[in-house]
Amino acid sequence: MFENFKVPDDLRPSDPRFGSGPSLVPVSFLDKLAETKTELLGTSHRKPAVKNLFKEMQEGLREYFKVPSDYEVVVGNGGATFLFDMIGLGLVRKKSVHYTCGEFSSKWFKSHDVIPWVTAENIASDYGQGVAPKDHDDADMICVTLNETSTGVHLPTMPAVDGDTILAVDATSGGGQCPCDVSKTDIYFFSPQKVFASEGGFFVAIMSPKALKRAEEINSTDRYIPPIMNWKTAIDNSVKNQTYNTPSISTVFFLNEQVKLMNELGYDKVQELAKEKADFIYSWANEKDYLSPYVSDENARSWAVATIDVDDKYPAGDLIKVLEEQKAVYGIDAYRKLGRNQFRIALFHNISFDDLKKLTQLIDQAFKEA
Ligand SMILES: Cc1ncc(COP(=O)(O)O)c(C=O)c1O
Repeated sequence: MFENFKVPDDLRPSDPRFGSGPSLVPVSFLDKLAETKTELLGTSHRKPAVKNLFKEMQEGLREYFKVPSDYEVVVGNGGATFLFDMIGLGLVRKKSVHYTCGEFSSKWFKSHDVIPWVTAENIASDYGQGVAPKDHDDADMICVTLNETSTGVHLPTMPAVDGDTILAVDATSGGGQCPCDVSKTDIYFFSPQKVFASEGGFFVAIMSPKALKRAEEINSTDRYIPPIMNWKTAIDNSVKNQTYNTPSISTVFFLNEQVKLMNELGYDKVQELAKEKADFIYSWANEKDYLSPYVSDENARSWAVATIDVDDKYPAGDLIKVLEEQKAVYGIDAYRKLGRNQFRIALFHNISFDDLKKLTQLIDQAFKEA
C-alpha cells in the first residue's frame, strides 16, 4: 500500500527529521562549528578554549533548569546507558526501586538487578500505561524515567522522597521540555541527542548534595568500581569543566548551542510550546478514525515523543518507507521492539509546529489516496 503516493511540494516539511533520537541537529549549528576553524576541534580538552566551552554549557544548564547552587552539573562520556551501570555501582547502597514502563526503564532496572550486592525491585506498568510512584521506606534509591521513549509515556509528577533516599530521574528524551522541578530530584540525567539537539556518547547528570554525598560515601568503601565509572573522578573533573577521558568536542558544542537557544525562551516557555505541539498531535490522532493515541491516560501522554496507533487496515511501515524514500520524513517508525502498527513522532523543541502540521497533512493525504 502507499507505493504510488507522491509527496506534494507544499506539504514537504522544511526538515525531514522527526525521529525520537538522535534528533534534529540544526544545520546552523554545523555552520557555527565550521566557523570555529582551528580553535576547538583537534585541540586539547585540558586547555582554556575547550574548558570555556564546557563552562558555558554547564552554566547554561544551571540557568535553564534553575539548578540550586549546591548542586553540581556533572558531565562525562558514555551516555545514559553507561549511567545505568554507573549509578547502580556507585550510588546505590543496597536497594533500588524501579518504575518501569518500557524498554529503557526496564534496561535500567536490569543493570541494577545484576549487581550482586544490590536488590533491585521492579514495579512494572503495562506498556502504554502511565506510572504512579509511591513512597518506599526500604529503598535507598527510587529510579524513574521522565519520558519513556519506547512507549511515549511521561511521568507528570515525581515521587517525593525524604531522608536519605535518592530520587534518580532518567530524563534522556523528556529532559528540557517535559515538566520536572530539578531541585526536587537528586540525580537528573540525560544524553544530549534528544531535546538538546546534540549527538550521543555523552552524559549530563545534575546532582544534589545528597547524591554528591552518597558518591563520596560509596567511593570510600572497598567496593570495586571501574575507574571510568567512578563518580568522584567524574565530579572532580566536572568541577574543573572537564571530563575524565577525552570527549567529543562537537557534541559539547552542539549541546551548548541548544542550551543557549533554549535559554532565550526559558524552561517555562519551552514546556508551553511542547505542550501545544502535544495537544495538536493527540487531537489530530483522536479526530481521525484510522488513528488513535497509544497511551490511553491523557496525563501520561508525552510532550516529547508521541505514539500514535494506526488502524491495522493500513500498514504504517509502508507509508514510512515511501516518505523516507522521497526524503520527506525520517524516523517516525514505532520503537522496533514494541512491534506495533504505529507512528512515533518526536515533538522535540527544534521540530517546528509548521513542520509538524505538514507531517499530519501529509499523512492524511496519503490515507485519503490509499
Ligand atoms: C529514556 C532513555 N533512556 C536511556 C536511553 C539511552 O541513551 P544512550 O543511547 O545515549 O545511552 C535512551 C535512548 O534513546 C532513552 O530514550
